[in-house]
Amino acid sequence: MARSEGLSIVNLDDDGVDLAFRADVLTGLAQAQKAIPARWLYDDAGSELFEDITQIPEYYPTRAETEILQSRAAEFASGIGAGRAVVEFGSGSSVKTPLLLSAIDPAAYVPLDISGDFLRAAAADLAAKFPGLPVHPVEADFMRTVELPDAVADLPKLGFFPGSTIGNMVARTAVDLLRTMRATLGEGAKLLIGMDLIKDEEVLVAAYDDAAGVTAEFNCNLARRINRELAGDIPVESLEHVALWNDDDARIEMHLRAKEAVRFTVSGKSFAMEEGETIHTENSHKFTRRTSNMLLLAGGWTPVKRWLDSKQRFSLILAEASIARSAP
Ligand code: AVJ
Repeated sequence: MARSEGLSIVNLDDDGVDLAFRADVLTGLAQAQKAIPARWLYDDAGSELFEDITQIPEYYPTRAETEILQSRAAEFASGIGAGRAVVEFGSGSSVKTPLLLSAIDPAAYVPLDISGDFLRAAAADLAAKFPGLPVHPVEADFMRTVELPDAVADLPKLGFFPGSTIGNMVARTAVDLLRTMRATLGEGAKLLIGMDLIKDEEVLVAAYDDAAGVTAEFNCNLARRINRELAGDIPVESLEHVALWNDDDARIEMHLRAKEAVRFTVSGKSFAMEEGETIHTENSHKFTRRTSNMLLLAGGWTPVKRWLDSKQRFSLILAEASIARSAP
């Protein structure tokens, strides 16, 4: 059954349960280290909480990346050039995408998103801000190769993947996605990608454990979502939000930690957590110049330009689809 009419990517059973969500949660909670893929943080409530996170004082990435987009328009224009179809992986934010589009004079804008509702809202917003710019939203899972609309088939492409969302993936998934993007965008494509930088641990941890508790709420919403959608009875008050820096893997991890021993059921299956045991809910990898270059190269993209914000917290990297060359 489809969530909305027409093509839908979401598979629901007769009770309206998202089958992929249930499978990921039941599998993840049965593991020795409990873990649930981060994509399930973003239901409507979670997406709104993430919007709130972008406004909190400790969460610097959104402001830092926006500053780069605001201050480097002339360099984007010369480095990227006019006349490209901008293909955004995820529906555009109301702030970042217009900054890019006004800087480079594109021929079309193609937002890709798995959520048709967000996608149509973002596309309508952009079309209103840029009258005359053809906007072609595509409802698709960009983790797989996407067939772009015929109208942009012959245009050179610029992929846009802001927010350091690539950092949510472990290296092998990130490389798979970069290669998939290259296949989606085709010959001669460029990619403008945001990658957050390694910095002082206190600054990183504070960005993911803000004083107002918005990130804690965002994390706990996953447990609430499980209770709402999967007939769960997780005692959310017995869990606490934890953000920690994993230095070996260069990433912030979010966990939900049991403050006391708990037992609960989800979709009729029983689970238990000991005091101190955690459910791992998100990774946010951070990069250096070398690790970001290495990741892009492994994914088939050659970095050609790199911009930082004035406080050097965040990087925006322009890369070109690599051409196979014989080594060395
Ligand atoms: C949307 C994935 C970029 O990792 O910084 C923010 C998500 N999680 N605070 C990030 C997030 C907790 C965010 N991304």
